[in-house]
Amino acid sequence: METNKDAMYRPNFHFTPKAHWMNDPNGLFYLNGTYHLFFQYYPEGNVWGPMHWGHATSKDMVTWEEQPIALFPDEKGYIFSGSAVVDINNTSGFAKNGETPVVAMFTYHDAIKEKEGAVDYQSQALAYSLDEGKTWTKYKNNPVIKNPGIKDFRDPKMFRDEIHNQWVMVLAVLDRTYIYTSSNLIDWSKQSEFGLGIGKHDGVWECPDFFPMQVEGSNDIKWVLIQSLNPGGYNGGSGTPYFIGDFDGKTFTPIEQMKNLPEDHTYWIDYGKDNYAGVTWSNIPDEDGRKLFIGWMSNWLYAQEVPTETWRNAMTVARSLHLKKTEDTYRIFSKPVKELDDYKDTKIEKSSVVVDKNVSIVDTTDASLEKAVIKFKIPDFEEKDVAFSFSNTVGDSIIFGYKAKTHRFYIDRSKAGKIDFNKDFGNHVSTGPRTSKETYLAVTIVLDKTSMEIFYDHGETVMTEIFFFNKPVSNFNALKTNSSYSVEDITINPLSFNKN
Ligand code: FRU
Repeated sequence: METNKDAMYRPNFHFTPKAHWMNDPNGLFYLNGTYHLFFQYYPEGNVWGPMHWGHATSKDMVTWEEQPIALFPDEKGYIFSGSAVVDINNTSGFAKNGETPVVAMFTYHDAIKEKEGAVDYQSQALAYSLDEGKTWTKYKNNPVIKNPGIKDFRDPKMFRDEIHNQWVMVLAVLDRTYIYTSSNLIDWSKQSEFGLGIGKHDGVWECPDFFPMQVEGSNDIKWVLIQSLNPGGYNGGSGTPYFIGDFDGKTFTPIEQMKNLPEDHTYWIDYGKDNYAGVTWSNIPDEDGRKLFIGWMSNWLYAQEVPTETWRNAMTVARSLHLKKTEDTYRIFSKPVKELDDYKDTKIEKSSVVVDKNVSIVDTTDASLEKAVIKFKIPDFEEKDVAFSFSNTVGDSIIFGYKAKTHRFYIDRSKAGKIDFNKDFGNHVSTGPRTSKETYLAVTIVLDKTSMEIFYDHGETVMTEIFFFNKPVSNFNALKTNSSYSVEDITINPLSFNKN
């Protein structure tokens, strides 16, 4: 039974399992109008345990329906993270009667071998579904990629590389990304390794994703490697840097600007503490063409201690990724999926406010701030400190804004209700120096009961964080700083899920 506290903390629209533990998103694919989300799941407890693949489906990546567990551990091991592709031409031969196979690759984690002190306890294995993801059969000759004697050898992400007419798979191996290719999804050849002398190496690399993207406004194609790492995140714990480059079908070569990045570099999918192991959907139709992404909205620093009991952890809102060329480099911009707009209720508009003292923008007794999309702009933004807060009637607040002196956005969770379950939760985090050259600041915030996802500069810089107030958010405030600023074009769109 869900406790009152758990009910108060359960997000309105971010996916959470009905009960028990969840981490990474896995096996994301789209087929015939349905988005599939699988996830690392332990159905017998509220902390990490022997991993299964849980399953949820959605028509729009906003409202999710949990499905029966898709993959159970077996004598070969737990079912760790992985991916799924739709094998339209049956290159795998798994379909015998004209079905379209969906093929998943996951990591077997053999906990017994691990206990015995062996190093080769992670290997890659296949499962396939002939009924659009409802039921799964493990491939009889698993594993398809044996362990070469390296402890951390996991999280295969496969995709169809139309440019080179092959299947490609990227695998996290200690602190490298291995690239494999295949013609049939079963026999894989290792082509190259990425990571020597580049990227952060103070943690284990996990859950990579790799794909081509059209550079917006041009016909150029660049390749993007998303490479989660833990620990070593920008603000500690789990985090996800990305790399942009070229791919010749075998080797990924990052662009020049990526080669000697300082520790404090600015290529991160998200600077908040709570967006990890995010990957993209496969088989999105060409007419749509979006790169659609979802991440796990937590951090290994404290994910097993957050103050919910019956279920633990949520996914981020689904996002579309965009690749843009800026003055001197390429950057990924993230936006909440446009499908979220279909749930917008009557809009609250506010005219411009001048902030030379603390200003209340929304003060409400209804639930309109418990699920909302908030947008505003700050003109003449450069060299100004700005600050905002979400708060409630019992003194909990989460503060966020920008410090002109350091050119960084920040979030301060130190007064955000329940924080004492872990020392790494209730602190102040910031982004790298702002990279946008816009003279105004555009802000979009997706707010749910226990999370905020802030998209600055049209998604060039993102901060996602969870919080656990003692009472729901009821106030949105602009705070006095050392320079006066104005907030314009404010819209608050409460979301309504009644139609479902
Ligand atoms: C990332 C991760 C993966 C692994 C999974 C196990 O959060 O550590 O590398 O496959 O979680 O649940």
